[in-house]
Amino acid sequence: MNFEFTEEQLMIQQAARDYAQRELIQDVLERDEKCIFPTQHVKNLAELGFMGMMVDPEYDGAGMDTVSYILAMEEFSKIDASTSVIISVNNSLVCYGLQKFGTDEQKQKYLKPLARGDYIGAFLLSEPEAGSDATSQHTKAEDKGDHYLLNGTKNWITNANSATVYLVIAQTHPEKKHRGINAFIVEKDSPGISLGPHEDKMGMRSSDTHSVMFSDVKVPKENRIGEGGFGFKFAMAALEAGRIGIAAQALGLASGALERSIAYAKERKAFGTEIANHQAIAFKLADMDLKVENARNLCLKAAWLKDNGKDFRKASAYAKLYCADIAMEVTTEAVQIHGGYGYVKEYHVERLMREAKLTQIYEGTSEVQKIVISRKILRD
Ligand code: CAA
Repeated sequence: MNFEFTEEQLMIQQAARDYAQRELIQDVLERDEKCIFPTQHVKNLAELGFMGMMVDPEYDGAGMDTVSYILAMEEFSKIDASTSVIISVNNSLVCYGLQKFGTDEQKQKYLKPLARGDYIGAFLLSEPEAGSDATSQHTKAEDKGDHYLLNGTKNWITNANSATVYLVIAQTHPEKKHRGINAFIVEKDSPGISLGPHEDKMGMRSSDTHSVMFSDVKVPKENRIGEGGFGFKFAMAALEAGRIGIAAQALGLASGALERSIAYAKERKAFGTEIANHQAIAFKLADMDLKVENARNLCLKAAWLKDNGKDFRKASAYAKLYCADIAMEVTTEAVQIHGGYGYVKEYHVERLMREAKLTQIYEGTSEVQKIVISRKILRD
């Protein structure tokens, strides 16, 4: 078994680290406070190839592997998880879903600009009454012959305002339950689409989250993804890949908090010595480091399985569950190690802790990951 990264993977990691530590850090506190979308950063990251990392060069992507994606996501998320969620939704839900299941025409028209970062994508599955229970779709897609007519409301949509392209999951045949659900590519400026107010979130405050309303929105038939009734499987398959990205985001939040805690513990003095010399702190750091190492290994294993064409459903759920839970634990300990300084914005760790909480909720709560894992071990 080879635990070494290739030169190319290390170069991508370094490029992401440099961008995060030199550029994202500059305005991250202001963007968090004022909920400012990182428009210029997204453009810069697109130029560096980070918006379509795993898309084939044939479709204008960077043609990198999922391991490189994990390494980059960790580096971005150490500094700025709001920007990394924008990257993650675009790469591993939207681009991945279109690359794997789209027609060539759909890829030419939508995947190429998404992979270049000229467009941003959003994934519209959640509804006011369909969160964890994703089969319970109330948004309707009526089949009108040459087009579908969309009506309904989607909730908690990342990139809702900044996106040009939406992937929308909607119900066409309720009597068929999840087998009646379809997935569509919908252009955000289509007549009949409106947005709810910007959600004032606890964390990830500079990513734009809104509800999206559809009122008699016409979607051409050629914009359906896959066969009729494939929409739920499409959503599950996209989420299976997307969860690796969010796992890596949670990993970055934890490792970022750990790095800040180590630096602080070596500087801050109490009872006549640096606090790192007190076992109470050193043992906390050891526990945090072990959790981060385990989390990284789970992410990389899921990525490796995906890159090698193997079944990664359980591995991505493991990674998402574990990384999100330890992100919450490690960032909370980081605040504790920083004491009063940890509770103010300047030291960043309170923000990392607020952001970590969302990783236990979106792209499937921790409980949803346990459903996926238990189904896999009980049914297979
Ligand atoms: N690939 C392909 N098909 C899959 C699949 C996958 N990964 N996983 C499940 N399926 C198929 C199953 O084979 C089954 O097909 P058949 O009925 O034809 O045999 C079908 O889908 C239903 O599967 P389940 O019985 O396992 O489905 P379920 O209704 O019990 O739901 C669940 C399981 C795991 C709870 C699922 O509903 C789920 O993942 N919920 C959470 C949704 C979620 O993650 N939402 C996040 C929104 S996106 C987001 O947050 C993005 C963002 O903004 C950051």
